[in-house]
Amino acid sequence: MELQGARVLVAGATGVLGGELARALHDAGARVALTGRDGDRLQALAADLGGAPAEAVDAVDVGSVRAAVQAAVTALGGLDAVVVAWGVVAFGPAADADDAVTEELFAVNTLAPMSLVRAALPHLPDGGAVVLLSAIVADAPTLQMAEYSASKAALSAWAGVLRREVRSRGVTVLDVRPPHIDTGLVDRALAGEPPRLPAGHDRAELVAAVLEGLREGGREIVLDPREKRLVRR
Ligand SMILES: NC(=O)c1ccc[n+]([C@@H]2O[C@H](COP(=O)([O-])OP(=O)(O)OC[C@H]3O[C@@H](n4cnc5c(N)ncnc54)[C@H](OP(=O)(O)O)[C@@H]3O)[C@@H](O)[C@H]2O)c1
Repeated sequence: MELQGARVLVAGATGVLGGELARALHDAGARVALTGRDGDRLQALAADLGGAPAEAVDAVDVGSVRAAVQAAVTALGGLDAVVVAWGVVAFGPAADADDAVTEELFAVNTLAPMSLVRAALPHLPDGGAVVLLSAIVADAPTLQMAEYSASKAALSAWAGVLRREVRSRGVTVLDVRPPHIDTGLVDRALAGEPPRLPAGHDRAELVAAVLEGLREGGREIVLDPREKRLVRR
């Protein structure tokens, strides 16, 4: 996809990775529309990006997720790609997990991205793209993170089927499964204390890999554990 002039909805733009992706897309010439939960931070970013259209949503509310897609389509005159970068985490033993916390994890990490993509797909042209931020724990479910791992694994499984189903339409579905990155996500956990985590991976490398994926296509972006770098394939 040519990013210059591409119409891209970034969901979770108030987050660290979503914000950096939105800014990088804007700098690459894309016309971005933004969603996020925190209205004040969302409006500040929108102003910073030249008055980008922005719609506050709570991902737990599927109606607001669908409305945000429609608002982006209206504001941009269509949609070429969506990037879903919202997410929450929680920690603790699986046997002790709180039901309400587990529900929120799956609502934000799994169900809301599915709803958003379903709402966006009819608008995406041949050559359009869907980018989903899953996580490395989808491949390597991690102790003290059973529900987070399961919510991301479910999203990746769904993305894999969707990719095959929309291939004939020429739509790219890019499943991004980053390793730990220092964004403060773990300090905003819905519950529990984080276990010892590896050193954070380079944020800029992730942002560059996603933009490259939008330009060139691909199925996934994952960590090559030997090379300790992100690979797209
Ligand atoms: N950082 C990592 O180590 C890492 C590693 C692998 C994958 N990821 C994934 O990357 C994505 C971005 O994470 P990040 O590190 O950038 O974290 P972040 O800075 O905490 O961003 C999280 C985003 O999710 C949004 N969000 C949370 N609950 C929401 C809800 N109910 N409705 C709408 N938006 C909601 C936040 O909105 P507000 O700020 O407006 O509340 C924020 O925009 C997540 O999916 C995460 O799982 C992160």
